[in-house]
Amino acid sequence: MERGFEQLLKTDPEIAAALIGEARREHGQLEMIASENFVSPAVLAAMGSVMTNKYAEGYPGKRYYGGCVEVDKAETLARERAKAIFKADHANVQPHSGTQANMTAYLAFMKPGDTLMGMSLSHGGHLSHGHPVNFSGSLYRAVHYTVDPGTKMLNYDGIEEQALRERPKVLVAGASAYPRIIDFKRLREISDRAGCILVVDMAHIAGLVAAGIHPTPVPYADVVTSTTHKTLRGPRGGLILCPERHREIIDKTNFPGTQGGPFMHVIAAKAVCFKEAMQDDFLAYQKQVVSNAQTLARRFIERGFDVVSGGTDNHLLLLDLSSRDLTGKKAEKALEEAGITVNKNTVPFDAKSPFVTSGIRIGTPALTTRGMKEKEMETIADMMCRVLSSIEDESTIAHVREEAKNLCEAFPLYAEYR
Ligand SMILES: Cc1ncc(COP(=O)(O)O)c(C=O)c1O
Repeated sequence: MERGFEQLLKTDPEIAAALIGEARREHGQLEMIASENFVSPAVLAAMGSVMTNKYAEGYPGKRYYGGCVEVDKAETLARERAKAIFKADHANVQPHSGTQANMTAYLAFMKPGDTLMGMSLSHGGHLSHGHPVNFSGSLYRAVHYTVDPGTKMLNYDGIEEQALRERPKVLVAGASAYPRIIDFKRLREISDRAGCILVVDMAHIAGLVAAGIHPTPVPYADVVTSTTHKTLRGPRGGLILCPERHREIIDKTNFPGTQGGPFMHVIAAKAVCFKEAMQDDFLAYQKQVVSNAQTLARRFIERGFDVVSGGTDNHLLLLDLSSRDLTGKKAEKALEEAGITVNKNTVPFDAKSPFVTSGIRIGTPALTTRGMKEKEMETIADMMCRVLSSIEDESTIAHVREEAKNLCEAFPLYAEYR
């Protein structure tokens, strides 16, 4: 690994400098993007490995290429571990990303023009849940459900009524910016009544599900899709779980249906991440992730900020800044200058465009990986409130930047790469 880096420095000093710069950036800022995390050195080692060299179209034991003995071992371990963690009949670990996993799930059960019903992006859903700019919104007739205007939470009776009216072929549940528990059992009942396939995209909450902190969708969904790089803390990639009855169609649709050769180095790293998720400290980590998010939410509320839905049950929260004459875009920029990385995000019923937005999304998986706890969350919430309350004040931003830097130094990250 170290020798490899020395060689990189010689062969391509520009890329080596960018890698070092990124390691320093990750170490030197408070990373609060809800979909990001910091993988372990073990996951990094598996990813940057010789398995990137191997073509392995097909599945373990049934490949289109010779020389697959070792990659078969890695993929089998990844599949078996994923099945064990999530108590699923079958796991396909080949999707290159969460969007690819969703593509496989949709293509397995829908023809072009069929109806796909998903959560609206501006209410917390994801592009790949039927947004017009995504394949899922152009290939299918997409209809969307929203959160309740009062509670800002999912209204399952409303979803049921809409599903019975729209008769989707696939109902997709799951979100990228929804801070509350999702009731998968109720969504199963709705799917049964509407006669549709239930796909649950648990990308954001996969780590919480693996630890048993968020109810699992596995017994209820026809297909569960996920990423492996968010709360689950693995390499960038996708995952599909399904009951035995859907195994054949899912595998066939993923390869050769939508993908070519699997990324065996990433699959090896997924196997490592799944093994890490089986260890005792993983549960403690996920508990801390939620406790940290709840601590932040409480502190923002105490400081007079509007937290969407009044709090959080998971790893993220949304701040609605619309009553403060502040946009998400401005808030994101000021916080970044202060050493705190978040992303602007629409809030439910947002009057502003996705490029401007009225809110920011804040997540705790990455800072929790660094070892930060409730005390640090209170400090960070206070720092953020100061910036958001004096957004044009350069001296406040400079002070907070200094505090953020000190906090980062106290919780070092990737020392060996910097
Ligand atoms: C709920 C959800 N599904 C799918 C994805 C897509 O994952 P990827 O970026 O790996 O395609 C995301 C990513 O943010 C997500 O939040």
